Amino acid sequence: METYDGAPEPGGVPALSDAPISEADEAAAPVPDAEEAAVVVEQPVKLLPVAELHLHIEGTLEPELIFALAERNGIELPYADLDELRACYEFTDLQSFLDLYYANMAVLQTEQDFADMTRAYLERAAAAGVRHAEIMVDPQAHVSRGVPLETCVNGVASVLANSLAEFGVSTLLIAAFLRDLSEESALDVLEQLLAMNAPIAGIGLDSAEVGNPPAKFERLFARAKEAGLHRIAHAGEEGPPSYIIDALELLDVERIDHGIRCMEDPELVEHLVAERVPLTVCPLSNVRLRAVDTLAEHPLPAMLAAGLNVSVNSDDPAYFGGYVDDNFVQLQTVLGLSEFDRVRLASNSIRSSFADDERKTELLAELGYS
Ligand code: ADE
Ligand code: ZN
Repeated sequence: METYDGAPEPGGVPALSDAPISEADEAAAPVPDAEEAAVVVEQPVKLLPVAELHLHIEGTLEPELIFALAERNGIELPYADLDELRACYEFTDLQSFLDLYYANMAVLQTEQDFADMTRAYLERAAAAGVRHAEIMVDPQAHVSRGVPLETCVNGVASVLANSLAEFGVSTLLIAAFLRDLSEESALDVLEQLLAMNAPIAGIGLDSAEVGNPPAKFERLFARAKEAGLHRIAHAGEEGPPSYIIDALELLDVERIDHGIRCMEDPELVEHLVAERVPLTVCPLSNVRLRAVDTLAEHPLPAMLAAGLNVSVNSDDPAYFGGYVDDNFVQLQTVLGLSEFDRVRLASNSIRSSFADDERKTELLAELGYS
């Protein structure tokens, strides 16, 4: 695969001039019509510098690492070999995935385990063009099975601390709370994280969405805001568009994870466009969890056409068939996504990150904006 060098090419991306893409440019960006989208593009996909904004670190546990950690920790897995484990990666919905995702976490026991998992992700992410990553960890999923909070946080954070120097990837850590557990449990863990001065930049909300609306976590998000933390929430993955509205209004979130079901509510789309609310879309995840039937039917092109502030992310890449580069390759191949749109998705990811202005400027420059 070619590496993106940021230089404008003849007949390439018109927006790669010396000025950042304006919002007007972005709103006017072309979107392939149905006929264009049906064409399979054979060209090599350039690796763009991107920010990964929607990534669960536990979702990067590759089958090989699951087996290696199980052996190191003397844990007997319910699968005889890698093939038997991989055969379980046929999901029917979000819950069927979550059941396996939580079960496989049993192999994470020590700081070293969390560190090894994090290092493996950063190495792979750097090769995918990721230059900034905002990484979610699910502390409750570990504390609830007897792993101390410090083990999980310190293991991940110890690797993140050197990530820029080691991998060229700047990082931020986000503590995600499980919406199928109680708000009391979440508040308790958040207070512990604050008390231990955990290096978290924000909080998120994940796990089983339907039946666990944002309203359940108003106090948690108010406390996080008071503590100066960023706030994001999964909404509109399987849940209805009203969950997106509620996450914005009741939880005061700065980004929505997924958000694809906003397309069912034109008034909501209008609001999201007007406010430039970032939606961290995960195309391969949506297909594997059956939120969308096929990649060819993914709403991403329509979301871009509507002027929504969307980015492309990998969610749980070890489970869903690919990292950020794989998502981009398949989007180009299956949906015929243009280079203009791929650059726009990359710039959206950088602009929507919680990186400081200096880092954003640096990364936008790598993308070709000076
Ligand atoms: N936790 C890990 N991946 C998730 C997803 N796609 N949706 C909700 N919770 C998750
Ligand atoms: Zn997610």
